[in-house]
Amino acid sequence: MPYVQAVIHEVQSYGSVVPLSASHATTQDTQVLCYSIPKGTMIIPNLSSVLYEEGRWKFPHEFNPSNFLNKEGEFVKPEAFVPFSLGPRMCLGEELACMELFLFLVTLLRCFLFHWPQDGAEPNLTPHFGIVQGPKPYRLGVRLRGQQSG
Ligand code: HEM
Repeated sequence: MPYVQAVIHEVQSYGSVVPLSASHATTQDTQVLCYSIPKGTMIIPNLSSVLYEEGRWKFPHEFNPSNFLNKEGEFVKPEAFVPFSLGPRMCLGEELACMELFLFLVTLLRCFLFHWPQDGAEPNLTPHFGIVQGPKPYRLGVRLRGQQSG
């Protein structure tokens, strides 16, 4: 279970599914570190910059579930895991989304075997950028568990 949780979190982290979160605006003149931000400024958060930040992750630039496992193999969630954004306006559906991701993935893995088709190339992991970004199309073999071929 810790490894399944680590894989799900790494997919969300490496995938950076909502890279620019949702736009907001300052309701008053605001000071953040050395930056003065006037009232009414549109703010576009860059969640990817945190999800790939060097020094925050063991492997910031590669898909590696070890980012979410400690030396004992237990699941740990680094502070930089922010695919749902953060603060008072962060995603209201986080708990539901996490529950669904777990149930969907585990159900699929229990029912099917996933494999690279012999004629399939390795997937291109460069994301297809958008408000919601995902992988470019790739070929994947799926067969029912217990079947020899297909
Ligand atoms: C993996 C799935 C999901 C991801 C990665 C995600 C991510 C996000 C992000 C980045 C925001 C913007 C937060 C901000 O404004 O700073 C957001 C907002 C929101 N999300 Fe999600 N979300 C997911 C699933 C869901 C689900 C399942 C629901 C509800 C059933 C939901 C409901 C909302 C709502 C209501 C807001 C607006 C919150 C506000 O403006 O105060 N999300 N989500």
